[in-house]
Amino acid sequence: MSSATPIGASDSGNGPILDIEDIHVQFAGRVGLGAGLFGKKATIARAVDGVSLQMQRGEILALAGESGCGKTTTARAIMGLERPQQGTILYKGEPIWKDLRAYRRRVQMVFQDPTGALNPRQTIYESVAEGLRIHKVKGDEREQVAKALSNAGLRPPERFFLNYPHELSGGQRQRVVIAGALALEPDMIVADEPVSNLDASVRGEILALLMDLRDRLGLTILVVTHDLGLAWTIADRVAVMYLGRIVEIGPAEDVLLRPKHPYTQALLDVVPEAGGLERPILKGETPDPTRIPEGCRFHTRCPLVASGRAKELGIEEKCRGQDLALKPLDPTHFAACHAADIGQIR
Ligand SMILES: Nc1ncnc2c1ncn2[C@@H]1O[C@H](COP(=O)(O)OP(=O)(O)O)[C@@H](O)[C@H]1O
Ligand SMILES: [Mg+2]
Repeated sequence: MSSATPIGASDSGNGPILDIEDIHVQFAGRVGLGAGLFGKKATIARAVDGVSLQMQRGEILALAGESGCGKTTTARAIMGLERPQQGTILYKGEPIWKDLRAYRRRVQMVFQDPTGALNPRQTIYESVAEGLRIHKVKGDEREQVAKALSNAGLRPPERFFLNYPHELSGGQRQRVVIAGALALEPDMIVADEPVSNLDASVRGEILALLMDLRDRLGLTILVVTHDLGLAWTIADRVAVMYLGRIVEIGPAEDVLLRPKHPYTQALLDVVPEAGGLERPILKGETPDPTRIPEGCRFHTRCPLVASGRAKELGIEEKCRGQDLALKPLDPTHFAACHAADIGQIR
């Protein structure tokens, strides 16, 4: 271990558990469409382009937005799997890089696809014990595995020890993945689309499990989702991302019932049966992180600009030319919109 003091040692127990300040993650290399064979220009995808976010202990926050807006990259940066070119991520007041190994025990990630996350040739016991072994956790391994399975709702746990993943249902497999995370007794879980590969019938159960874990174990949970219905079910707060930035954040009721950003409003206008956010929801250019528009990054698709409303309000020039950060609309609800800024939004 690189440092003398363990990560979080100076933690007062107050402050946010996670404090992300203006992180940027860029990917290089993909050549833009239309570039000729000889005129190849290196392009840079600004996948995460200035995300700031704080999480309080014991809260469930949903990070929502269309496919490609940078949710997974943000989650991977939070896990230390992607190193931002710029910005800081503090866990209990200290940079996560200080002792990444200790941090990765305190904060566990649950991935989207429970089948891919489990080794088909490993028993459930082995899968859940793996993290304990990697982190050389002391104590009775059998007991720890049993407790984790039980906390993930697989009871009696011993019944599952010798099963293989293919012998379980999709919902049970996701519970095993969650048990693997719980075995390390983390403070926080980052779950990337935890139910999107599951049958609709078991999604509710897994969401109920996550909420129950927060209530019983005091876990802090960041859940990444393209589904605002899921955010409504589970989250205390919702952050809406567009082209690498959070454009609106606040208590779930405020953001989902009284959205202030035209992008959030557009997302909420989509009929869920029509496929939710997996398909394009707005006219205009599809968002491309290699070409983020000047000004407000949403202005090329913004209904306020397209309808002439922004012009009427005298903000059109700003929308087209002036980038903006999140601003408080009240102490807990923030949006990055020039119209919201002057109180002119439905
Ligand atoms: N390893 C990578 N190399 C190049 N581009 C990437 C890489 N990972 C993600 N991207 C790009 O970054 C953008 C954001 O992706 P991602 O974070 O996966 O979005 P989301 O999870 O919201 O769907 C996308 O345009 C994606 O193509
Ligand atoms: Mg993703």
